[in-house]
Amino acid sequence: MKTINIAIDGPAGAGKSTIAKMVSAKLGYIYVDTGALYRTAALYITENNIPDENIEKALESADISLKFIDGAQRVFLGGRDVSELIRTPEISMAASRTSAVPAVRAYLFETQKKIARENNVIMDGRDIGTVVLPDAEVKIFLTASAEERANRRYKELAEKPDCPPYEDILKDIIQRDYQDMHRETAPLRQADDAVLVDTTNLDLEQSAEEIVKIITKRIAGEG
Ligand code: DC
Repeated sequence: MKTINIAIDGPAGAGKSTIAKMVSAKLGYIYVDTGALYRTAALYITENNIPDENIEKALESADISLKFIDGAQRVFLGGRDVSELIRTPEISMAASRTSAVPAVRAYLFETQKKIARENNVIMDGRDIGTVVLPDAEVKIFLTASAEERANRRYKELAEKPDCPPYEDILKDIIQRDYQDMHRETAPLRQADDAVLVDTTNLDLEQSAEEIVKIITKRIAGEG
């Protein structure tokens, strides 16, 4: 049976994962956060101190997989659940760097394709609409201004004792945007047939509703 694939791409901090989770719950699709795969590859490379020129070979013995437990995605590195471990700022930066290495992208390509072949998915990432699922039924490019994204991240972290200053968060976001958009392999860009959704002035619920509307219309053949 042909599965339905929805691609959601966009820069870091646009709310992709939260919004995509809400949308997939509404539609009953599996939500796939491909960033977690890149983060896990970065963790593997960092933990084992692998220099760039050895990454391709080293990945042959990496064992990275996703499991869906009660509908929620968990990511495993060699049988170890690393879903929380990959969420540090260090791994964010490392993932942005190592995801530019073609061998990393090639290694994770088939993992992503397989999940989409076997399930109705909402898959979020940077190159889902352009490279991984070019035939996705619906493509969304989700964005928000860098300042608004930094603001949201700052609010998320504000409760924590080691919350970085707003300026540092903004600087990080701008740097990651630049790296993600200017790498040679599969840079972040809006697919020609993607619908742009700017969430700068929308809350999560409004953003999710907007996307559900786009998807339902497209799948019904009206949009
Ligand atoms: O979405 P995220 O912040 O968890 O992604 C982590 C890094 O992985 C990000 O810097 C870009 C990269 N990434 C990618 O290159 N392609 C994807 N499909 C998903 C993430």
